Amino acid sequence: MTHPEFARVSCGALSANDVDKDVELSGWVHRRRDHGGLIFIDLRDRDGITQITFDPADAATFKAAETLRSEFVVRVHGRVRLRPEGTVNPKLVTGAVEVPVKTLEILNKSETPPFVVSSEDDVDENVRLKYRYLDLRRPRMQNNLTVRHRIVKTMRDYFDAHEFLEIETPILIKSTPEGARDYLVPSRIYPGTFYALPQSPQILKQILMIGGLGRYMQIARCFRDEDPRADRQPEFTQIDVEMSFVSEADVMAMMEGCVRDVWARALEQPIEGEIPQFTYHEAMRRYGSDKPDLRFGLELADVAELFRGSDFQLFHTLSETPGNRVIALRFPGGASLSRRDFDALTETAKSFGAKGLAYITLAADGAKGPIVKFLGDATIAALRAETLAENGDAILFVGERAKEASDIAGKLRLEIGDRLGLRDPASFKFCWVRGFPLFELEDNGEITFSHHPFTSPAPGQHELFDSEPLKVTAQHYDLVLNGYELGSGSIRNHDPAFQRKVFQRLGLTEEQIDDRFGFFLEALRFGAPPHGGMALGIDRIVMLACGTTNIRDVIAFPKNQSARDVMMDTPSSVPEASLRDLGLQIRPKPSS
Ligand code: AMO
Repeated sequence: MTHPEFARVSCGALSANDVDKDVELSGWVHRRRDHGGLIFIDLRDRDGITQITFDPADAATFKAAETLRSEFVVRVHGRVRLRPEGTVNPKLVTGAVEVPVKTLEILNKSETPPFVVSSEDDVDENVRLKYRYLDLRRPRMQNNLTVRHRIVKTMRDYFDAHEFLEIETPILIKSTPEGARDYLVPSRIYPGTFYALPQSPQILKQILMIGGLGRYMQIARCFRDEDPRADRQPEFTQIDVEMSFVSEADVMAMMEGCVRDVWARALEQPIEGEIPQFTYHEAMRRYGSDKPDLRFGLELADVAELFRGSDFQLFHTLSETPGNRVIALRFPGGASLSRRDFDALTETAKSFGAKGLAYITLAADGAKGPIVKFLGDATIAALRAETLAENGDAILFVGERAKEASDIAGKLRLEIGDRLGLRDPASFKFCWVRGFPLFELEDNGEITFSHHPFTSPAPGQHELFDSEPLKVTAQHYDLVLNGYELGSGSIRNHDPAFQRKVFQRLGLTEEQIDDRFGFFLEALRFGAPPHGGMALGIDRIVMLACGTTNIRDVIAFPKNQSARDVMMDTPSSVPEASLRDLGLQIRPKPSS
């Protein structure tokens, strides 16, 4: 029942300027307090909270109000008044006023919620996900989804202003490889055949360029069957972009403009100064990662030279063999760690793949630690100089094959950053990483693509492609924020013969190439323009913008850590008849 003479307002709208206005408010019972014979209710909607009061003088309404419990849904009418002196709540936008209720309608009741919606207390995540509708009512989720909306809106506006067309690509397609497994959808009409859900719209956006569309963007849903991680979801969203007749620098400038706009307009925290660029090799050398966290220094130092000829046999041997790294890493304040602390740190290093962890500590009276006896004064002085370590610090050492050493030291650097509180979630440090290798070696020794198979080698590297493929540099660039890969892109192969050669190099037979990519190679043969693009992970951007490291906190209905939707309780079995329709039979999975 609405009253035309009452203005409908949200629960976050009223202030002292509205005193004596007749208003209608609808929302949820956030909190109820019975005090001095009156009932006080904090009424909540997406916009905020307004205090409404019930006076026993109006016996019927008061009686109804006594039945109100948390999360009941109500509509009330009343006249705004100032709160009595001493009861003003400066923390609330509406904290100067209250609405004594004239009419109360209970629109719906609620069972007792499994957790207190009005409290920000931590609740087991699976309970939050099972009752996501209750979790979504909490201010944190409402804020995160609002930030998400603002970010996506800013991106859309940006690309619209730069004459991009927003084009939807299909979800039921043929596999587009991005390095994960496909989710498959069986076809009823053609039993025994399957659609694949897109790991990204990669091939389709390239075909849009062949179709002459020039500048494409899409807020694209992608699906990847890979092991979940805190920053990964089986189903996630990209801002996906492709452009014709462009260089690496053109695409990077366009995407950087988008990110700058998001931070300036949607988050009101403009990115100051230039965004630094690193080559892949430089990032690995200095930070042990191709997604360096630049919120703090503590760069890795290469010290193999200092151990050449030393009595510390392990590092001496490592330093003699090409392809190894001996890395020293400063741990500020690490000299105060106990033997047991170092044992625990060694276990952490082992969990990163290290075989062990050597270290020394520095004090005014000299260096200490198990390996000091192998090091002369000159070596210790050189180590101090290389790592910038001071008295009171520790120096950690990692020696392995280069890639493993970089990876372990890079993770230890982040561990130290965490322990010292150097990874401030409110600080945003971007960088670009370029010059990635086109291919990398899989654990089984086979060559695989490091980005995806459509990335073009850098100009002048096509010959190297035949002789030393692992040395070929790709026209591939990543945008990194605070140690997370926000996005990836590249200039693509537009020459069909060369694209076929890449597939061959990846070990595909001619038959496999034609079966999986024949349509695409054919499209490239009809006047494909040079083109390139990029995709940014929207969930990751919102996650970092909201100061969380859990991607699920910025997605309305995410899968849990085991890739399940616990609200819908799926994946789930289907009726036998559905399987029969599809010509499918479930076989027990062979144990691997
Ligand atoms: P890429 O595979 O690097 O590139 O993906 C681009 C960005 O998408 C985000 N992302 C994810 N976010 C959440 N969960 C996941 N499972 C997940 N996987 C990726 C990351 C990542 O940087 N087609 C190319 C882009 C191109 O070349 O234009 C692609 O998809 O933020």
